[in-house]
Amino acid sequence: MISGKAKVCGLMACPVEHSLSPLMHNFFAGEMGIDLAYVPFLVKSENLKEAVLGAYALNLTGVNVTVPHKQAVIPLLAGIDEAAEAVGAVNTLVRVEGGFWGYNTDAPGLKRAVKEAGVQVRGRDCLLIGAGGAAKAAAFMLGDEGAASVTVLNRSADRAWQLSEEMNRHFGRTFMTGMALADYEKLPARRWLAVQTTSVGMYPHGDEAPVEDRAFYRTIDIGVDVIYTPARTRFMALVEEAGGRAVGGLDMLLYQGIQAFELWNPEGKVPPEIVDKARVMMRRELER
Ligand code: ATR
Repeated sequence: MISGKAKVCGLMACPVEHSLSPLMHNFFAGEMGIDLAYVPFLVKSENLKEAVLGAYALNLTGVNVTVPHKQAVIPLLAGIDEAAEAVGAVNTLVRVEGGFWGYNTDAPGLKRAVKEAGVQVRGRDCLLIGAGGAAKAAAFMLGDEGAASVTVLNRSADRAWQLSEEMNRHFGRTFMTGMALADYEKLPARRWLAVQTTSVGMYPHGDEAPVEDRAFYRTIDIGVDVIYTPARTRFMALVEEAGGRAVGGLDMLLYQGIQAFELWNPEGKVPPEIVDKARVMMRRELER
């Protein structure tokens, strides 16, 4: 039940209609008996400023922002959390006096997803496939969790080098290097923890993977894909076929949402049984 006192939250994105966030947040609110409504807002880039000002004027408790607003929203905020600043992108806005404060819950969402899968990042040699927005959050997480090394493989090598330089500077250690994806055969022999962050393999292109070569997959013992549509990507299938373990993107989506929900409702954590129920509900929704 939504009362006159309900907290109102939502998602600003373009497009917005395929998002699972409204389902997820309203599920948490319903299961936890929290008077909160979460709605989709279709916001075009040219209207972002008015949308953020309007959200404040309408007394919204918080909003998520996603494609294409994660960077563009930053100058419109009252301030930004240190980790979001390092990632260079914001996905969660929390109402404060005079405006919204920006957070990035993608990096902690991925961290929790990897941790719950029983994967330890500390001391590992990692491959980061992709160098776009999603890669930045993953790069920050890997650096923050103490990866021994991160090799960024990207179609355009320039972006891989740029991301590596940024992260080395931020963490004050030279642990990240960049490489063209096409040169993957030149990688040193390692057992890699690989994080796939490109859009390759995302619905409706579920039969694609960033690399097809099975020899590449035999060097990966854990492969994490941030894509959640389809639930099992071709990248994950190739990792598993080569004997490795694969983790899909649904948990990252779930945990970034939980962290946002907890920022808007600091009085309580989402209990584990509700997290499990939400995962089942979202998986079912994706399979529809
Ligand atoms: P996002 O915010 O989702 O990460 P993005 O910033 O546009 O989106 O980044 C998309 C990533 O997918 C990039 O790493 C991109 O490689 P380039 O930097 O070379 O463009 C990668 N990508 C997209 N299509 C690809 C393809 N067909 N093959 C390999 N990489 C691809």
